[in-house]
Amino acid sequence: RSVALVGVPTDIGAGHRGSSMGPEALRVARLAERLSKRGMLVVDHGNVTGPLNPWQPPTNGYRHLEAAVAWNTATHEAIYSALQNGHLPIMLGGDHCLAIGSISAVARHCREKGKKLRVLWLDAHADFNTSDITPSGNIHGMPVACLCGYGPAELTGIGGTTPAISPDVIRQIGIRSVDEGEKRLVHEVGIDIYDMRYIDEIGIKAAMEEALAGVDDDTHLHVSFDVDFLDPSIAPGVGTTVRGGPNYREAQLVMEMIADTGRVGSLDIVELNPAFDKRNQTAKLAVELVESLFGKSTLMR
Ligand code: ARG
Ligand code: MN
Ligand code: MN
Ligand code: MN
Repeated sequence: RSVALVGVPTDIGAGHRGSSMGPEALRVARLAERLSKRGMLVVDHGNVTGPLNPWQPPTNGYRHLEAAVAWNTATHEAIYSALQNGHLPIMLGGDHCLAIGSISAVARHCREKGKKLRVLWLDAHADFNTSDITPSGNIHGMPVACLCGYGPAELTGIGGTTPAISPDVIRQIGIRSVDEGEKRLVHEVGIDIYDMRYIDEIGIKAAMEEALAGVDDDTHLHVSFDVDFLDPSIAPGVGTTVRGGPNYREAQLVMEMIADTGRVGSLDIVELNPAFDKRNQTAKLAVELVESLFGKSTLMR
């Protein structure tokens, strides 16, 4: 299977500048070489382009809506064409608003191929805000809502089908920061959330078994990996750290169990912010975890 790396160097949806440097940090951490070493054919498709970050305050509940639409439209096209060409796309973000573009492309591809979609959303946050309830106006706090049809038409309509996905394809894992209004909305919509309390109670293995239940040969698994999913003690290179996340071994087990399904069809690596990192350690950790996601293991299995 050939892998297409698609860089999307923008921090348009974030509350801190710097995730625009994420794609290059992942390249410097040798993502392509590590995956090639696993026997994968890796082609770096370079970077998607878009407007500079105007760094403005929110208007009508959104910061940089117009620019976010431009970046997500370009991301959608790049990811959709990679899938059409038979590649497994890895979107190198960039902030998490870009999942609107990538996941709408994956969903469109699945509809056309008659495949079932499952989205694993690894994150500290639910990213289910809307313009009425957002505390920040930052669009990286809204992608899951937009993909489910809650948001401005310019974003919910990317890819031509609104909503792009049904809420029941989503499993959110590692969640530990949900805003007040957002809490009500995810409850109302019925998003399947494996929050840190639940993981503490039943353990990461049982939680992943539940999140992966029903994945079969016809399933396309999309993994949206927000690096702030990880505990900040091991992953300081993100703008929105929240303590109490999975530790190194728990994160590895998550990736290993996803790999065991053999169904990973696309991946986002987002919110990596080199401006908050030290010696690129968070990028290196992300690369290690992605190796596990693609089947690296200690022993023969
Ligand atoms: N819930 C907060 C907000 O909406 C933080 C969102 C952080 N999202 C992220 N992808 N890091 O502003
Ligand atoms: Mn190609
Ligand atoms: Mn996120
Ligand atoms: Mn997050």
